[in-house]
Amino acid sequence: MVEVSTSILSMKEKEESKTIMGLEIAKTDYFHIDVMDGKFVSKNTYEKMIEYSSYIKRISNLPLDVHLMVEDVRGAIDDFLSFEPNIITFHLEAIKNSDKEKKKEEILNIIKYIKENNCKVGIAIKPDTKIEEVYEFLPYIHMCLIMTVEPGKGGQELIETTIDKIKILKNYIDENNIEIDIEVDGGINLATADKVKEAGANILVSGTAILMANDYKVIIDELKK
Ligand code: DX5
Ligand code: ZN
Repeated sequence: MVEVSTSILSMKEKEESKTIMGLEIAKTDYFHIDVMDGKFVSKNTYEKMIEYSSYIKRISNLPLDVHLMVEDVRGAIDDFLSFEPNIITFHLEAIKNSDKEKKKEEILNIIKYIKENNCKVGIAIKPDTKIEEVYEFLPYIHMCLIMTVEPGKGGQELIETTIDKIKILKNYIDENNIEIDIEVDGGINLATADKVKEAGANILVSGTAILMANDYKVIIDELKK
């Protein structure tokens, strides 16, 4: 069953409550919170996403799907745990350590820390990161977020080569009986949704395509088909 996580990155100013309530009525499965620190990616949405998360927490019961595009992963985890998100996803590329074993240990410690705080964990990978790099962590996480655009902004075109990564990951988790969600993020709309679903994605993040629609429900229902 395919789920939809609406990215609120491009929400129109002063229309936030109308948009959030409209998305709730349209039955988005999650609100996708794009946290950018101006370092890991050039845009900085940090304070805005804290404000939005706090607001959504107050007016909606729908779960938060937090996507950290930050260098200080642990600091951001602490900041966003306070909104009791359903899942926190961090980028594999944000954990830098030349020593392979130390890097693996740091990643496993982050996964453990998020879980100890009663939150599910996801790992995100950029388009140029090989899918094999995430394999060793799959048994410990709930979701792999395959970026189908370069992280950093909404409204981009899906990068076709990322479709193969979805297929390879889907085959790997099926062959190894790993229960995990495959989320895709960036350039997902009615023209690209079928391709990513056929490839194996079961959670679709969409921002621009949904927020620019007159009727959110029509497009969300279409994406879920
Ligand atoms: C990009 C974000 C995506 C983006 C999706 O860095 O992670 O979630 O906001 O927006 P669209 O659907 O417009 O590509
Ligand atoms: Zn995102």
